Amino acid sequence: MSMTRVLGTMLASSMLLAVAGAAWAEEAEALPPASSSSAARPWMNTALSPDTRAELVVKQLTLAEKIQLVHGTGWASLIPGNPIPEGWNYGAGYVPAIARLGIPGIHMDDSAVGVRGAAYLSRYATLLPSTVGAAASFDPQAAFLYGSVIGRELRAQGFNMSIGGGVDITREPRNGRTFEYAGEDPLLAGTMTGNLIRGVQSQHVMGDIKHYAFNDQETGRSYYNAVIGDRAAQESDLLAFRIGIDIGQPAGVMCSYNQVNGVYACENPWLLTRVLRKDIGFKGFVVSDWGGTHSTVASALAGLDMEMPSSLDGKSYFGTPLQQAVEHGQVPMATLDAMDQRILRSMFAAGVVDHPVEPRDVIDPFEGRDDARRIAEQSMVLLRNQRQLLPLDAKSVQSIAIIGAHADVGVLSGGGSAQVDAPGGNAADPHTGGAKWGEAVYFPSSPLRAVRRHAPDAKVTFDPGTDPAAAAALARNSQVVIVFAQQHMLEGMDRPTLALPDGQDALIEAVAAANPHTVVVLETGGPVLMPWADQVAGIVEAWYPGIGGAQALANLLFGDVDFSAKLPVTFPRSDDQLPYPQVTGLTPAVFAAAKTDAQVPTAQFTVNYDKAGAAVGYKWFEQQHLAPLFPFGFGLSYTTYAYSGLNVAADGKSASLTVRNTGKRAGTEIAEVYAVLPSAAGESYKRMVGFTRVTLAPGEAKSVAVALNDLCESIYDTGKHAFVRLPGTYTILAGSSSADTPLKATFRVP
Ligand code: NOJ
Repeated sequence: MSMTRVLGTMLASSMLLAVAGAAWAEEAEALPPASSSSAARPWMNTALSPDTRAELVVKQLTLAEKIQLVHGTGWASLIPGNPIPEGWNYGAGYVPAIARLGIPGIHMDDSAVGVRGAAYLSRYATLLPSTVGAAASFDPQAAFLYGSVIGRELRAQGFNMSIGGGVDITREPRNGRTFEYAGEDPLLAGTMTGNLIRGVQSQHVMGDIKHYAFNDQETGRSYYNAVIGDRAAQESDLLAFRIGIDIGQPAGVMCSYNQVNGVYACENPWLLTRVLRKDIGFKGFVVSDWGGTHSTVASALAGLDMEMPSSLDGKSYFGTPLQQAVEHGQVPMATLDAMDQRILRSMFAAGVVDHPVEPRDVIDPFEGRDDARRIAEQSMVLLRNQRQLLPLDAKSVQSIAIIGAHADVGVLSGGGSAQVDAPGGNAADPHTGGAKWGEAVYFPSSPLRAVRRHAPDAKVTFDPGTDPAAAAALARNSQVVIVFAQQHMLEGMDRPTLALPDGQDALIEAVAAANPHTVVVLETGGPVLMPWADQVAGIVEAWYPGIGGAQALANLLFGDVDFSAKLPVTFPRSDDQLPYPQVTGLTPAVFAAAKTDAQVPTAQFTVNYDKAGAAVGYKWFEQQHLAPLFPFGFGLSYTTYAYSGLNVAADGKSASLTVRNTGKRAGTEIAEVYAVLPSAAGESYKRMVGFTRVTLAPGEAKSVAVALNDLCESIYDTGKHAFVRLPGTYTILAGSSSADTPLKATFRVP
C-alpha cells in the first residue's frame, strides 16, 4: 500500500484527535511575549532586519538544534503506533520549537483552497472557490483577500505556515490538480499567486509557493523526468514562479516530486540555486514536497533547506545522516548555517516569532462565507448566453428545473491535500469524521435553495439527472432548466480525457432537446469538452465554487451581480487539440490501477515538455492554428464593451486604452494586453503582458492605464542567464480576450 493510500485510509478515521494541541499550548506559553526584547535575546529586537535577527540566532544554535530546524514530522504521526510528537498541531508538517531561544515551532498545514483537516479538531474552515476560479477574476485584490482568509483561519487553528500557493501552469489541463493552480499564463498565474501569498503573510503566517517545478501532471509524479530546454523553461513555468515570488516574497518554496532534466527537483542545483537563488533572488527556504527528498549530501549542496516530513520508519535524510555528513565534512557547516538562516529569516520576516499563534482563537465562519461568496461572484465565467436568456427575471419566471450534480444539497469541491472538510460532513453522503481521500465532497451550499430564495413565486423542482429521460421530462414541463454538470478532480489522479464523465453529455443533450431555455452550470476542475455547446442557451463555468458558491451563482444567474470573470485557461474542442493527445504515461491500464494513487506508474519515464516549450495554452493554439472552443481570457457579461485609443509608452512599459460600456447595465470589464515580439524571438504567438479591471456605468467610458510586464516582453538569454529585450518592433494588441484584440500599436527597442 502506498503512502498516499495509507494516509487516505487514516485520514478517514477520526481517531485520537480529541487530545489535540495540549502540548502545543504549553509550547506557546513557554515562548516569550511578542514584545520581549532583552540583551539576552538581541534577535527579538524588531528594529533589526530579518536577516540580522536570523544571523544572531544561528550563532546560538547547537549542532543538534541546527539539524532540528531542517527536518520535521507530519502526517506519518497519524499512523497507529507511530509516536505523536510533543507540540504537534495535527498539521501536515511540524518542526519543534527551540524554546530556550524563544523560537516557536513551525506548524504547517495544507491550505490550497482553505485550511485542511479542520474536522480532526472539531473545527470549521472556509472552503474558497478553487484557485483556478479565483484566477478567473484577474483581480489581484481578490487574490489578496483569498490569501488573507487562509492566513486568518490558519492562525486561528494554531498554524503559522501555509503550504498552499500552487502556481504550476496548466500545461496539461487533465492534471488532477488543475483546480489548485492559477491557469496557463505565467503573468496571470504569478500575479494571482503572488498576491494570494501577500494575503496569507499579511496575517503573520508564512506563505509558500509550489510545486517547484514542472509538476504539471500527477501521473507518475514521483517517477517522471520532465525534459525542457532552458529558455522555454524560463519563459513558462519558471516565469510564473518568478513573478509569484517577486510579488509575494513567500517564506517557502516547495520543491516537487518529479525530476527535471534528469535530476530530482529537490536535489536539482540548477533549479534550487542557479534559477531560484541567483536568477530570481529568492530569500526564503526550500521545503521538499512530502517524501520528495532523495538524498542527504546532494540535496543539501543543491539548495534544499528542509526535508519534510521524516519517513515512516523514523529515518530521514536531514536528521542524523545530515548531522554525520556535516561532522565528516561532506556538507560544510556553512551550508547548514545558510539553511537555518533562510528558515529563521523567513520566520522573522513573516512575523511568526513576534506574533506567536494563539491556540485559543476561533474562526468566524460567517465572515469566511461572505469572503468566499464575493470571490466566487468574481470567478464564475459566463461562456454563452443566447437570446439573453440570462439574467433570469425573478418576477416573471414561473418554473425552473434544477438537474444533476447533487445541486439540491451542495456544491462539489476538489480532492487530495487541497480537500477542506465540509461543515456537517459531506452534504451528498454524510458520514462521521473528515473527508476520505478520493471521495467527492459536497459542501452545504445548495443551488436549489439559493434559486428558490431568489424566485420565491416560481416552482423550482430538482431531478438528480441519473436518468436522462426523466430529466428531459421535467425539462419539457419547465420554463427554464439549469443543468449542473461536474468533473471531480483530485491530487494523485489525472483524468484520461477532458470529456465529462458518467454520461453527462448525453444528459445535457437530452435536456437541451427537451427545452431550448437550458443553462449548463459546470462544476469542474478546469476545462472540459462540450460537444453540446451549440445546443444549449447558456453556459456558466462555476469551477468548484466554495462555501458561498450557491449564493454567488444565484446572484449571478438572477443578475443581482454581473458576470465579470474571464477564462484563465483555454477550453479545447477535443483532447487531440492539446500538445499531448494523452497524459504522458496515463494508459487505460494505469488509470484503472491508479485510482487515487499518484505513485503509479512506478518506473521512470520522460515527459517531453520541449514539444510545446513555452507555447503553453493559448500560445500553443495560436502557434498550431487551432481554434479552441473558448479562448483564454474570454468571458461574457450582461453588458457590452467597446475598445479604442491604444497608446503605448515609448519604452513599452505601459499602455493606455479606453473602454466604453455600450450596454444598459453597469459592469466590470477585464481588459487584456498582449505583445508580439520581434521576429528574432522566433515565436508565432502573442504573450499576455498586462491586464486590468475597469468598472463602468452604462454609457460610461474610461481611459485606463495598464502596466506592461517587462519580463513578458523579454526572452531569456541562456548565455547571459538573464531576460533581455530584443531590439526591433513590438506589436501591442489589446481587447477583451486572447482571440479578440481589436486595438494595435507598436513600440521599438533600439
Ligand atoms: C503532497 C502534495 O503534493 C503537497 O502539495 C502537499 O502540501 C503535501 N503532500 C502535504 O500534504
